Amino acid sequence: MSRLIIVSNRLPLNISIDNNDLIISPSSGGLATGMSSVHNKSGSLWIGWSGIEEEKIDHKTNEKINSQLIKENCASVNLSRSDVEDFYYGLSNKTLWPLFHYFTEFSTFDNNQWESYKKVNQKFADVVISKLSDGDRVWIHDYQLMLLPSMIRKMNPNVTIGFFLHIPFPSYEIFRIFPWREDLLNGVLGSDLIGFHTYDYERHFMSSVKRLLRLNINFNQIDFNDRNITVDTFPMGIDYDKFWNAAQNHDKLKNNQVSDLQKQLNLHIDSSPSNKLILSIDRLDYTKGIVNRIKAFEIFLETYPQYKEKVRLVMLAVPSRSDVPQYKILKRQTDEIVGRVNGKFSTVNWTPIWYFYRSMSFNNLIDLYTSSDIAMITPVRDGMNLVAKEYVSTRIFKKGVLILSEMAGASQEMNEAILVNPNDLNLLANSIKKAVEMPIDEQITRNSILQKRLKRYSVHKWANDFMNSLIKTENEVDSIKSVSVGVKEHIKIISNFKKATNKLLFFDYDGTLVDFNINPDLAIPSKKILRYLEKLSETSNTHIVINSGRDERFLDKHFGDLNISLIAEHGYKVKLKDENEWSKNGIIKNEWMNHILPLLEGFIDRTPGSFIEKKEASIAWHYRKSPPELAEKRVVELNTLLSSLISDELHIHNGKKILEVKNSRINKGFAASKLVEKNHDFIFAVGDDITDEYLFEELPERSFTIKVGSKNTCAKYNIANIKKVHEMVKDFL
Ligand code: UDP
Ligand code: G6P
Repeated sequence: MSRLIIVSNRLPLNISIDNNDLIISPSSGGLATGMSSVHNKSGSLWIGWSGIEEEKIDHKTNEKINSQLIKENCASVNLSRSDVEDFYYGLSNKTLWPLFHYFTEFSTFDNNQWESYKKVNQKFADVVISKLSDGDRVWIHDYQLMLLPSMIRKMNPNVTIGFFLHIPFPSYEIFRIFPWREDLLNGVLGSDLIGFHTYDYERHFMSSVKRLLRLNINFNQIDFNDRNITVDTFPMGIDYDKFWNAAQNHDKLKNNQVSDLQKQLNLHIDSSPSNKLILSIDRLDYTKGIVNRIKAFEIFLETYPQYKEKVRLVMLAVPSRSDVPQYKILKRQTDEIVGRVNGKFSTVNWTPIWYFYRSMSFNNLIDLYTSSDIAMITPVRDGMNLVAKEYVSTRIFKKGVLILSEMAGASQEMNEAILVNPNDLNLLANSIKKAVEMPIDEQITRNSILQKRLKRYSVHKWANDFMNSLIKTENEVDSIKSVSVGVKEHIKIISNFKKATNKLLFFDYDGTLVDFNINPDLAIPSKKILRYLEKLSETSNTHIVINSGRDERFLDKHFGDLNISLIAEHGYKVKLKDENEWSKNGIIKNEWMNHILPLLEGFIDRTPGSFIEKKEASIAWHYRKSPPELAEKRVVELNTLLSSLISDELHIHNGKKILEVKNSRINKGFAASKLVEKNHDFIFAVGDDITDEYLFEELPERSFTIKVGSKNTCAKYNIANIKKVHEMVKDFL
């Protein structure tokens, strides 16, 4: 049976050692809480770091840790002191975390830390591979493990891998700052499915993939080597019932059953019916907007003094990454500002801020949630924010107000909260007033809508949706009919070639014999491939054809010296081997060009980097050098415009970074099929573009047709890349 393997940097439990005793506590953060609920229900194995440096673990402790982990269906990846320093505190939390949260000024770039990031990702890969059985699926989480998908893929090409990013994916302008940006993208692209919390993060990711890797993207699918990768949005939910039920049970507690914390909270609540508690819960992290929140509370008390002694801010800041300098600074700033505000406003009976710097048990968390009239969750940047959702799910009487930052991913699903810009302190202060004064009816209306949605989109639905999409990628692979050329297929094709007596071979040019180049004139054949083709053409009874969209001038320049046939402009012109002249495939009227050309020229002016190539029978508009998003928009515009103008005689061909208008009677298949003879006992065609599909369709059933770089094709086979094509040509010799 297939098993789910969850992989994240942290395990759901955090282990530390005190006087030789293991101290086990739940890990903090949304990833751990959310995935724990999924893990507990799914019989999965969770692989991650236990939280202790391996130097601190002796043999006996190791045994104790392992037996604890086995109980929890977990397995650990051991990190050394220097791994923790360079990979965890370093690249993960001094570089990626601030960069992805738009704190560019906090991001440091250190080569040693990058090396450590790679090394630790490989450590994770080794453990995953050692635990993997046939049919298992791997679900990798978060920014600490972005290289892991491709490392696992390299070691086990057929495993199904999902990746989910729990933090924002920043805009291209930010992401491009990262020195090893291509490696990071290529790392994640080892997955079959990549998930984000919001559509904006997905859009940013796609934009970086397009601009930095120049890969082809079709809606939410990325063509990567010979694989299709799906990218989608899955907003993470919470274990709604767990919080709702806990709140209900909490309500039934008798006075002598409540916690000490609850007793303290009751002191405030019971002293006057008009008293209000505002709750703030976060890890102590600069992305959470904690200092701004306190400042806004200060402005609120100054501007609306009638609320002094009535409204109290209860602030839980959970210690986090305290070895990173920015977190130390934030701790100092928070202590200072809490002290200052309390010093400024406190009276004998009242301190405006109750501040806890620690993590709390689940029951205490429920005490805080259920006792608060308002939750103020105002991060300056946050991938999702589950605390906001948890607060709403504990509103069993539907009363309570959520003030939520529009910079949190959660805000996209929680429109009924008071949404605020966390940088506008006056707005924040006024939103506190609005929350304090919000009529009960309005609170009930807002919470009812929010709760319905949260209940429906729980963390279980989130995980199911993700897993179903992941399984769908497997089915898509199954529905692909073309066979990938592996060793067996390679040998079969070569031996058929060697056995045959009369051979015909078609080669597409761009993307098949040479790599795509941003400047088409620089995409020229290597000496090596020219030598192979020359030798091949000298083999007896072997007819080689270059079948390209390029014009005759280009093909003559690079292949004119070889004794091979050339087909130019997608089949419009042909020069057979042993002949010196080019001939046209039929007479084609070209008056249409005079109408289309000015229109295309208008598009060049509006699309920097694009240019026109005028051939004899077609006009091509190239946009490989243009900003991808702009070009994409223009392609849609141009397609719409042209389709309304041209007759059936013309055809719009959307190729790789090229839009070409040509006569519909011309295509690669039509020209090539004229060269096929009955006694050809080995026919071979290889190409990477849509135009090559015409050729694959047209050739006789006995042909070996091969698509480069994609499995979605009507060719019989697919091959990973140009390098593999070259290897095949070499082995024909
Ligand atoms: N949380 C916790 N212990 C605490 C306080 C909070 O485990 O003392 C949990 C909280 O219930 C929530 C998570 O930590 O599920 C915080 O997730 P969120 O998405 O809000 O922020 P993150 O910490 O992941 O940035
Ligand atoms: C956020 C991140 C998680 C991380 C958690 C706690 O939720 O998205 O990946 O585990 O914070 O941070 P820590 O550094 O303690 O693991």
